[in-house]
Amino acid sequence: MLIKKAIFPVAGLGTRFLPATKAQPKEMLPVVDKPLIQYAVEEAYAAGIREMIFVTGRHKRPIEDHFDMTVELELALEQSGKQELLDVVRSVKPDDMECIYVRQAQALGLGHAVLCGQRLVGNEPFAVLLADDLMVGEPPVMAQMVEQFRHWRASILAVQEVPPEHTRRYGIVAGTPVDERLMDVTRIVEKPSPETAPSRLGVAGRYILTPGVFHEIASQPRGVGGEIQLTDGIASLLRREKVFAYRYEGRRFDCGSKEGFLQANVELALAHPQLGPEFRSWLGTLNL
Ligand code: G1P
Repeated sequence: MLIKKAIFPVAGLGTRFLPATKAQPKEMLPVVDKPLIQYAVEEAYAAGIREMIFVTGRHKRPIEDHFDMTVELELALEQSGKQELLDVVRSVKPDDMECIYVRQAQALGLGHAVLCGQRLVGNEPFAVLLADDLMVGEPPVMAQMVEQFRHWRASILAVQEVPPEHTRRYGIVAGTPVDERLMDVTRIVEKPSPETAPSRLGVAGRYILTPGVFHEIASQPRGVGGEIQLTDGIASLLRREKVFAYRYEGRRFDCGSKEGFLQANVELALAHPQLGPEFRSWLGTLNL
């Protein structure tokens, strides 16, 4: 496999979801019946990635527990003959998937979180997935990006068009079109104002990066919000290597916001094979 490892930065405080995230990681909030982090891990797995590196912080143990074996639960389900549920529980961590945890002692930014995974990644290209961004695509978005990487052997950033008033929420890229979906990036800026944004293409939380980015991040001063920004590291990488922006096929739900989180719940519930039909007819009874 070309990309074997993925970094999941999960040390953030999740203040936007208080009080739900007071004693629970935001990545464990469920969309329908699965925690957000599981969607991201499944997307990485579907792209052939088997080594999952979680950059965690204090109060994030439920994530480790989620991807661990739950012996008592499995035993109880086995004894009561609940095979289907047992399969659901066991599929959270397939046998060929490895989970590794590293701590980010201080929340110094996304770039810093990625840097915490450097030793575990070593000198090979790797993926970064932000669990806040729930991606729905067929093939899954990270698998699409690995395909692009296979061809270009360079860093690939997932992008989408965003409304001008939202440029302040994203890393924004500009560059030269290569084909309908791909752009050779010449500039990337973290959270610019609509007036200074170089385009309306915003980076979604999916990246494939070459290991050269570690050195670039490490030499960055604090950026927007006083944080060590991944975007600034990528801006620096651009001067040495090619970086491509890829307009993925699929949808993104911004589950870092309450609106996006609710939309994801409704849309994924409607698409759910068991829940969907009944949920749809219930929705129809609401006088909206
Ligand atoms: C981060 C990145 C930003 C990117 C965004 C995607 O920002 O810094 O460049 O566009 O994720 O979700 P955050 O949402 O963590 O503020």
